[in-house]
This record gives sequence, C-alpha cells and structure tokens, in this order.
Amino acid sequence: MMNLNILFCVIPLFFGKSTLGQKSKDPLLECPSLEKGDTYTQSEFLSRLAHECRYDRLLLPTYQTGDVVFVHASAYVYFIQPAEAHDLNFKLHFLLQLRWTDPRLAYALYSPERTKIIGESDLRSRVWIPHLYMSNEQSSSLMGTDSKDVLISIAPDGEVLFSRRMQAVLYCWMNLQKFPFDVQKCSMNLESWKYNASILRLMWEKDNPVRLSSELHLTEYSLLDYWTNESVVRGDIVNMRLGGGRSGNYSALKFTFKLGREVGYYLMDYFIPSMMIVAMSWVTFWLQADASAPRITLGTSTMLSFITLASSQAKTLPKVSYIKASEIWFLACTGFIFSALVEFAFVNTIWRRKKVVNLKKVNSKYILKSTLTPRLARKEMQKELQSSPQLSKSRSCSSLNQETSSDPAGPGFNNYLTVHSFPSALNLPTITTQSYDELVRSDRRNHNCASEGSDEPPKNHTWTQMTPQEIATWIDKRSRVLFPLLFVFFNIIYWTFVYCL
Ligand SMILES: *[C@@H]1O[C@H](CO)[C@@H](O)[C@H](O)[C@H]1NC(C)=O
Ligand SMILES: *[C@@H]1O[C@H](CO)[C@@H](O)[C@H](O)[C@H]1NC(C)=O
Ligand SMILES: *[C@@H]1O[C@H](CO)[C@@H](O)[C@H](O)[C@H]1NC(C)=O
Repeated sequence: MMNLNILFCVIPLFFGKSTLGQKSKDPLLECPSLEKGDTYTQSEFLSRLAHECRYDRLLLPTYQTGDVVFVHASAYVYFIQPAEAHDLNFKLHFLLQLRWTDPRLAYALYSPERTKIIGESDLRSRVWIPHLYMSNEQSSSLMGTDSKDVLISIAPDGEVLFSRRMQAVLYCWMNLQKFPFDVQKCSMNLESWKYNASILRLMWEKDNPVRLSSELHLTEYSLLDYWTNESVVRGDIVNMRLGGGRSGNYSALKFTFKLGREVGYYLMDYFIPSMMIVAMSWVTFWLQADASAPRITLGTSTMLSFITLASSQAKTLPKVSYIKASEIWFLACTGFIFSALVEFAFVNTIWRRKKVVNLKKVNSKYILKSTLTPRLARKEMQKELQSSPQLSKSRSCSSLNQETSSDPAGPGFNNYLTVHSFPSALNLPTITTQSYDELVRSDRRNHNCASEGSDEPPKNHTWTQMTPQEIATWIDKRSRVLFPLLFVFFNIIYWTFVYCL
C-alpha cells in the first residue's frame, strides 16, 4: 500500500508531464462533458467534475505546477477535559477546519450560477484531502452518530473547506514537581502525514485560528492562556515514513494551552486537614510525661490518620521519580508528627530516671546537656566545683518550682525543683540518689526557700538541682511553644516557595 502511494505521488512529479499528464489531456470518449454545468444537479455535476478521467484524488492539487499546497487550519474547541494527573493525558472535542485551493475543482467557468458545492462523507471520498495526524494522540475519532460529522464545501474558484468534528485523547507530559500548585502546558500537534514541507505547508488561519467555546468547563484547572505555533519537524529523524530513506521535513501545527490547577480542592482535602492532624499531635505535650497510654495512642493515631490522608492523595499521581511539592509537605508533616512521638519517648525516659541532675543554670543549654550526657555533665560539674571551692551557701528558687509544686501531687507526680548549694566539693558524690521521701522533704524546704530566697542575693556559682520529672515537664513546656513555632516557620517557607518561585 505504501509503495503504491509512492508510485502514485512520485511518478507524476518526475515523469507526470510526459505520461499521466498526457493521458488526462487525451480526449477520452467516456469523459463526461462539463458544458452547461448549471443544468446538472449538484451530485451529477460533481461526479462529472471529479470524474476519474480528469481528476485523480491521489494527486496533489498542484501536481502539474509543482507549487507548494498551502493548507490553512483553524479549530473550534468545544470541550477540554484534563484527565487525572496519573494518566498524563487530556481529552479534547473540537471542530477542525482545513482550507486549501484545488485548481482542478474550480468550476466557475462551467457552472457560473452555482455558488457552492456542499457535501458530507460521500464528497470526502471523491476529492483530494490532506492527510494530517496528531502526533501526540493516544486515540482519536471522528464524531457523529448516524454518519460522521464531516462537511466539505467547494467554492467556484476551487477553494475547499473541510471541517470535521473530532474527539481526541492526547498525551500531555506534565511536570508535577510543583504539584498541586503546578501549571501545565498541553498541546495538540498536527502534522502532515504524507507530504513533506517542500510540497505541503500547514498554516494557521491569520485571525483567530483557535476559538474556544464560552462554555468550556474545566473542573480541576483554569485555562490561563493559549497560543498557536507553526513549525517544521525533521521527518528523517523523527519517523520512517515513505520507507525511511526519502523523507524530508514535515510541516506541523501546534496548539498549546496553559492550565493552572485549582488548588481549592487540595487545600480543603489535604493541606488543611493535615495541618489539623499535626496540631493534634501537639496535644501530647499537655499530657503528663508518664501518661504513656494516651500519649502513645495520640502519637500513633495522628501518624496513621495522616498517612491514610496522604496516601489517598498520592494515589491520584503518576509514579514519577522526582520529588513533588505535595511530597515535601508530606515528609515535613510526617516529620513533625514523628518528632512529637520521639519527644514523648525522650521525655518519658527522662521521667523514669532516678538521679537528680545538677545544673549550673536553668536554661536549655545546660538542661539538654545534662539530660543527653548526664555523666559528662556531672564530671564537668565536679571539675568546676573543685576549681572554685568557696561556694556560697545561697539559695534560689526558680519560677518553675512554684508552678509545678502547686499541682495536686499524686504518687507518680513528683515535680520538684530542689535547690542546693554545695559547701564543698566533698559533698558531691552523696547527692546522686534521693528517695521519694527525700524529694518530698526537699520540696517542702523549697517552699521555705521561696520566701527566704530574696533575702540572700544569689551568687555566681549557684548550682541548681532538678529532678528528672522536672526536666521532663520543662521539655514538654518548651515543646508546646517550639513545635508550633517550627511548624509556622515551615509553613512560611513552604508557601512562599510554592507561590513565589
Ligand atoms: C509559539 O508561539 C508563542 C506565541 O505566539 C511564542 O511565545 C512561542 O515562543 C512560540 N513557540 C515556538 C516554539 O515557536
Ligand atoms: C529540515 O530543516 C532543518 C532545519 O529545521 C534544516 O537544517 C534541514 O536542512 C531541512 N532538511 C531538508 C531536507 O530540507
Ligand atoms: C519531498 O517529497 C518529494 C516527493 O514526495 C521529494 O521529491 C522531495 O525531495 C522531498 N523533499 C525533501 C526535502 O525531502
């Protein structure tokens, strides 16, 4: 079939004038006359006009002169439906209109009264029609119920207008890096199938080549812009038409539209719920450090519900290897929920420690140092005390003590801030363990110290003792502020990245 086509279109071009061209000029007896064209019906006239003896629909309109055939295209788009992102395609319903001039069909001379010949599919099988294809099509078909929606009209000067209503599913290679804040460019690529660019040139109509229906409803996207391009594709590289060896450049048309994803759905169904879940995981900081059951339940249930939420979301996406904006969000939220769980594990471990911790100052640096590396901190303290043996006997009470000790104390609830001053370094090894009773006693002492503390001004080398429970509560309290702050900070960075880059 391919070879036949080659023969039909090539031979006439090289030898046409001597063989086939000669034949058509021959006064063939059976060739029907075109005289008094006005007296015939449209179909009778057309069958005479396009009779095999004078019209070969396999040959280009300009096969005699060798000129380039210009095919002007325009489209009217009824419907665009971008598919779910994981399909990487979209559906288009459109009316494609092609316009070219076929001098062989000019009938003004024979039938001056006739203004137009209009036909449907039957006419299509009688005249030359450029074969275009959509290079990025997944599937396409002519639309129409009884017969296909094709319309052809021929003007007296031989100008042919060919319209067809089509539906096509076209590939669109989306870049989902910024999903769901992405903007996609999808296009329809029309290309000449048979004739190379030196024979057939495709062009968009000068004005309004593509018009869109005013009732274009894009559910998940908004149409930001659209434009058309004309180009030439390298046939010898891209494909193997015409046996591979004889192809040149092919004329191509492109219609591109830019779609912005509507984020409303993702905000309501993903981002806001996940913010709430992350916030829910912070409730754990208000629970007591040894309340393992509620804190673990809270941590794992927030984690599970977040992963369920995110996986339902991830199912709609293709499995691309790069990281998408939604995945950064997922990772960060998982990180936050996970670290809330880890914070519990940490705080709970400290809570169960027995040794009272000695602190140089009640601030995060010393507390974290002494909890993370208790031995090192203790050694450091010993060293320091040895180097400065004249420690004053001052007493000071931190504010933390007042808060925690006023809480109703259950048996497991022992938050103390015991403040001791060390008369000498020799005393040190004895203050490692304290029984519950001792702690209670020291707690009472502290109540006294709260009133006495102001009498004696605290000196430089005042060491503070905190029970592990106090430290656990202290960490929880800091987390109540730190976690929300970090999350707000992350949100600021994330949303500026998403909207400004
Ligand atoms: C396509 O046309 C648009 C606008 O007409 C233009 O901005 C763009 O650069 C063109 N693209 C190509 C590949 O020619
Ligand atoms: C095809 O087009 C390219 C440029 O787009 C040009 O360099 C090349 O010579 C053309 N090939 C033919 C066979 O016309
Ligand atoms: C285009 O095709 C015609 C015949 O179909 C051929 O004669 C011509 O050399 C081709 N042009 C190029 C640039 O390949």
